[in-house]
Amino acid sequence: MHDVVAVVGAGTMGAGIAQVAALAGHRVLLLDAVPGAADRALSGIRERVKTLVARGKIEADPESLDLTAVDSVDALAPAGLVIEAIVEDLAVKRNLFADLERAVGPECVLASNTSSLSPTAIAAGLEHPERVLGLHFFNPVPRMRLVELIAGADTSPELADRTAALVDRWGKTVVRAAATPGFIVNRIARPYYAEAWRLYEERAATPETIDAVLTGAGGFPMGPFALMDLIGHDVNEAVTRSVWTAFAQDPRFAPSLAQRALVEAGRLGRKSGRGVYAYGEDARPPAA
Ligand code: NAI
Repeated sequence: MHDVVAVVGAGTMGAGIAQVAALAGHRVLLLDAVPGAADRALSGIRERVKTLVARGKIEADPESLDLTAVDSVDALAPAGLVIEAIVEDLAVKRNLFADLERAVGPECVLASNTSSLSPTAIAAGLEHPERVLGLHFFNPVPRMRLVELIAGADTSPELADRTAALVDRWGKTVVRAAATPGFIVNRIARPYYAEAWRLYEERAATPETIDAVLTGAGGFPMGPFALMDLIGHDVNEAVTRSVWTAFAQDPRFAPSLAQRALVEAGRLGRKSGRGVYAYGEDARPPAA
């Protein structure tokens, strides 16, 4: 079952999911809308796996990983499971799922790594919404055990059970969450990020101080600003807007103007070399 796993979106999350699926022994197909992005992601995966093996963290033969970059949805036809990890935008995801439904076989499970959107909404309009569910991995995927599994209104319970068992075999811990905006983790995380931005905007404390307090006294592995730099401000803000919109613009979830400014400036975080903090050779990233 699910010998072939396809991942759509070769960014932060798609690359991590592809790595985990390949290490679990699947043949993995990776597709991205940007030409060359899937190939670059595969090179990155091989490098990361080599490093993990060299450090004795995992046992694997990096050369034997079965990873292929493809350049069309039609090439995903052999997949038994597709995991979508593209932009957090309902209309864009819906278009992709309509294309996927036409390309893959009738038994193929269609999962979305959405952080906040309802699988019911993503599946709306499909001929077979019963095979759609949310499978929300966390960043960095190879390290984070938790996966939220979200069944939509039409999702087949049997299919949800089978998918949960599969992800469990990948070494992950599956938690079932209701299809409420942001599910469990992002529902709790939104006011957490929002308060960090409010403190920053009130000049109550610097990002360095806030992160240091949370990691030091708070015992968090990362502070909110270092974490948002890791997630990507474009992605983080899109999730905030999605939850805020879903809750009728409840001020608890209001997006931050300071974060909007970062997104508009292209300061997306680690992936662009600069976010709240600067990264790269000359920069000193925050202790995280
Ligand atoms: P990203 O921006 O790093 O990567 C997205 C990739 O999808 C890009 O390479 C882009 O070219 C590609 N793409 C966009 N539209 C496409 C399409 N129609 N077809 C094929 N490829 C397309 O984004 P990231 O961070 O990997 O997020 C992806 C999804 O995962 C989002 O839904 C996000 O909410 C969710 N997520 C993100 C987390 C994070 O920490 N970054 C954590 C958990 C979930």
